[in-house]
Amino acid sequence: MQASNYYILGIESSCDDTAAAVLSNGKVLSNCIANQEIHKRYGGVVPELASRAHQSNIVPVVDQALLKAGIKKEQLHAIAYTQGPGLLGSLLVGSSFAKSLALGLNIPLFAVNHMQAHLLAAFIDHPQQQAPKFPFIGVTLSGGHTQIVLCRNHFEMEVVGETQDDAIGEAFDKCGKILGLPYPAGPILDKYAQKGRADAYPFPIPKMPDLNISYSGIKTAFLNFINQNQQKNPDFINQNLVDICASLQYCLVENIFRKIKKAVATHKINTVVIGGGVSANSEIRRRLLSQADSAGWEVHLPPFEFTTDNAAMIGIVGYLKRLQENPSFLDAVADARLKF
Ligand code: KG4
Ligand code: ZN
Repeated sequence: MQASNYYILGIESSCDDTAAAVLSNGKVLSNCIANQEIHKRYGGVVPELASRAHQSNIVPVVDQALLKAGIKKEQLHAIAYTQGPGLLGSLLVGSSFAKSLALGLNIPLFAVNHMQAHLLAAFIDHPQQQAPKFPFIGVTLSGGHTQIVLCRNHFEMEVVGETQDDAIGEAFDKCGKILGLPYPAGPILDKYAQKGRADAYPFPIPKMPDLNISYSGIKTAFLNFINQNQQKNPDFINQNLVDICASLQYCLVENIFRKIKKAVATHKINTVVIGGGVSANSEIRRRLLSQADSAGWEVHLPPFEFTTDNAAMIGIVGYLKRLQENPSFLDAVADARLKF
């Protein structure tokens, strides 16, 4: 039987953000994140340091989420946590904590797939979004994944195309590093790009079969381009930063955008839902909205707070699972390579 307020605690710890959120019947009451600043020093996530930081952050973040939501842990009806994919050490901290708390409170526990959650964030009850109708083309755009997913219902999702090497977020971050930008470079590169000319420097778009995609070639071409220009002019980056960023961003987005168009045509489905950190990107949003105008696509862009890793998206999957399936057992194990 459904309680009038079904409180669910979401816990996310797959990479370098420790996050906790409380939802009531699909509405977010709190969405708290402790970012791990320590990785900035190394220009990328150091797995061992990430799991240690999760250990110190998890109790305060969960406490803060409950406090902000105005409820006590005894009022929770269920807990949802990220089972995978992600860094194993990081996943183990969140999953052990979630299991212990669920056991202690004697409430159901839901194991959630992080990539499914990026797409199912579209079902969070939020004034800026309306739930999409099935079937739709889901596109995961994150630091570790770039996938085109045929979503038949909440839990029937089939990956129909994906990157064969780097993820789009990884390409943003690595190219940003070449420019001397701090980690994660994606959002900073996006800011500079908005002030520059996207046609200043044409970078090659790889040709990949079907709905698969590649980003490693663009990264190498970009590195060579920067090296060659710096040999001629050591101040090349500083003098042309906004145009370099705009041209690179255009190319990184165009690469996936061609595949989204192809997926829409191949599967004859014109509802498109994007998720993951790079779904915050201004260029991908602009391109999708323009496609909605010119080709009648129904486009679902997540509110910014649900783009990068967060626990609200984990909580909503727990809530949807609760409506559809039985809770997972305590012996569900963290899985670094969990598939859809
Ligand atoms: O989904 P997410 O938070 O973590 C993973 O599951 O990987 O994605 C993080 C990625 C990083 O690569 C970050 O640079 C990128 O999302 N990102 C962006 C923007 N905001 C975040 N990339 C381009 N433009 C943005 N505005
Ligand atoms: Zn993610």
